[in-house]
Order: sequence, then structure tokens, then C-alpha cells
Amino acid sequence: MKIIVVGASGTVGKNIVAALGNEHQLIKASRSSKEHPLDMTSPESIKKFFQQIGKFDALVVAAGDLGFAPLGQLSHDHWEKSFRSKLMGQVNLVTIGKDFINDGGSFTLTSGVLTEVFIQAGIVASSINRAVEGFALATAAEIGRGIRVNVVSPGLLEESAPQMGSFFPGHFPVPGARVGQFYKRAVLGIENGRVLLAV
Ligand SMILES: NC(=O)c1ccc[n+]([C@@H]2O[C@H](COP(=O)([O-])OP(=O)(O)OC[C@H]3O[C@@H](n4cnc5c(N)ncnc54)[C@H](OP(=O)(O)O)[C@@H]3O)[C@@H](O)[C@H]2O)c1
Repeated sequence: MKIIVVGASGTVGKNIVAALGNEHQLIKASRSSKEHPLDMTSPESIKKFFQQIGKFDALVVAAGDLGFAPLGQLSHDHWEKSFRSKLMGQVNLVTIGKDFINDGGSFTLTSGVLTEVFIQAGIVASSINRAVEGFALATAAEIGRGIRVNVVSPGLLEESAPQMGSFFPGHFPVPGARVGQFYKRAVLGIENGRVLLAV
């Protein structure tokens, strides 16, 4: 299969690449990639990317900025940045990518456990992650052509705990390798319109 991984160089993305292994043709995309540059906040960049890549079988997104700030310090910028990147970046990859994906292909997006648990400074993340899931599930119902759309919702990765762990008191960080397997299940399995809680 020809599989695009957006954010392949990141903490989550590296684990997705490892889980998918060597049996597939992986297209590893991100803003700083020399081979496959892509900025998912820019529809022009996305169109150019798909025109270069051509038809593909699966697209996985493990990218998207989120603003973290307590309620009293939340600014328009926190919302705007998160909306443009994590929500509209993933929306644009699907709405533009649907014209390039093969019939029977799949899109796998990323939300996060903050859809279900609420932490200090996590208002934007909880809101945007829920919007990502709403978009994915409604699109799965409508898209047709045998195309599947799923979301993986990871808990805090062990690899991210040194930086982010203090925001998640009482949480059990999840090994990145385990999270990678949920993406593999979404890409290689048959499920559709599902949120896979990767904890
Ligand atoms: N880490 C966790 O514990 C955790 C838990 C739950 C959910 N998540 C979610 O998982 C996703 C990835 O998180 P992460 O921790 O792996 O982040 P990360 O380590 O910062 O990696 C982000 C990846 O995305 C790429 N990227 C960022 N902005 C992009 C853009 N506009 N267009 C294309 N590529 C872009 C980055 O490469 P370039 O800089 O080269 O573009 C990098 O490859 C995020 O949505 C995050 O909310 C993470």
C-alpha cells in the first residue's frame, strides 16, 4: 500500500512509521521534509503535495498544533492557531485528499484523550479534538467509494511525559509503540467511523 504519514518525524509519527513497518510504500511528509514538504495549514501546499504524490491508498495525520493556557490567559491566538492547524489542517487533508485517494482507501486522523478527560489549561485542546472527531465521524458516513475515516485518540505518550506530564496529574502515560499499533489497526483493518482510544 502507498501510505502518506503527515508528521512522520514527530513523537507520534515515528511510532506510526515503526508500526507500519517495511511492507508498505511510506510517504513521510511534514513542513521541514526535504523529500515531501507539506504544510497542512495551507490548502495550496496540500494541493501541490497531492499533485506530486498522485494516487494513494491511505493517509495518516499525526500533526497539529494546540494552544495550552488556563482560562484566564486564553487568547484569540491560542484558538486561531489550533483551529488553523489541528482542525482545519486535518479537514483540508481529507477534503482535498478525497480526490486523490483510491477507492477503498482510508484516512486516519488524530485527536487526543482530552476529548474525554479535562485538565488545567486544556480547554482549547478538548474543544478542537472534539471537533476533529465530529468532522471525521460525519465524513465517514458521507464520503462513499468504500473510503474509511477513523480517528486515533492517544493518551499522553511516555515520550512526551517529561515535557507535558505535569499537566496530566494521575495519568498513566502510554508507550508510543502501543499508540503506533492503534494507527496500524485503523489503516490495515476494516473499521470505519471509529474513534480508537489509544491508552
Ligand atoms: N505526544 C503526545 O503525547 C500526544 C498525545 C495525544 C495527542 N497527540 C497529538 O498527536 C499529534 C502529534 O503530536 P506529537 O507530540 O507527535 O507532535 P511533534 O512531536 O511536535 O511532531 C509534530 C509532527 O508534525 C509535523 N507538523 C507540524 N505542523 C505541521 C504542519 N502544519 N504541516 C505538516 N506537518 C506538520 C512536524 O514536522 P515539521 O515541524 O517538519 O512540520 C512533526 O513531524 C498532535 O495532533 C497532538 O495533539 C500527541
